[in-house]
Amino acid sequence: MRLTIAIDGPAAAGKGTISRALADAFGLAHLDTGLIYRATGRRTLDGTPALEAARTLTAEDLDADDLRTPEVARAASVVAAIPDVRAALVDFQRAFARRQGGAVLDGRDIGTVICPEAEVKFFVTASDDVRAARRHKELVGTGHDVDLETVLADLRERDARDSARAAAPMIAADDAVTLDTSDMDIDAAVQAAISLVTEKTGVTPVR
Ligand code: CDP
Repeated sequence: MRLTIAIDGPAAAGKGTISRALADAFGLAHLDTGLIYRATGRRTLDGTPALEAARTLTAEDLDADDLRTPEVARAASVVAAIPDVRAALVDFQRAFARRQGGAVLDGRDIGTVICPEAEVKFFVTASDDVRAARRHKELVGTGHDVDLETVLADLRERDARDSARAAAPMIAADDAVTLDTSDMDIDAAVQAAISLVTEKTGVTPVR
């Protein structure tokens, strides 16, 4: 069985951590699709038109060292609302999802648009305050001078744009399991996700 796991949810809910841990536990490849939108948004900040940026994205663009900044996150969510930009990025994501050996993809529209056939789907969420506190800690830890209120306002603005857009809005797939990580530490959230994958597919972790 080729296992595909789709993980969606709002900003800083813990998707990345859970995705990497699931990929490791089940021996799957992992794609952070947010990085693709961030790299596209990053190029628009240099003046490249959004659609051209999406169509000519390279592996090097995904390696840029400033993709995690709040400015790039905002630019990502702006380009992500453009239907042609999303269309230009679909094939790469679907090909990754179908790779031999299976894959975990995380983003906003994985369970609904990119991999509606995924064997397991999660919608990972947490309260606004918990998400803002996590992202604030991350940003301060990587040397950014930001205050908690600004981080919270940024997350809310981005979530609102991601949920309200007409093209592939952020929404839980009908068959997604919602994982609220507000009161869970990383280990508890990862363990809950691993158990659910095994429960749904019968596949046991390889480590
Ligand atoms: O890490 P965080 O959850 O804050 O954001 P991200 O996953 O890196 O995504 C950055 C932005 O890209 C999001 O706010 C969305 O606007 C967009 N995105 C999307 O539209 N669809 C995806 N599959 C992944 C990201």
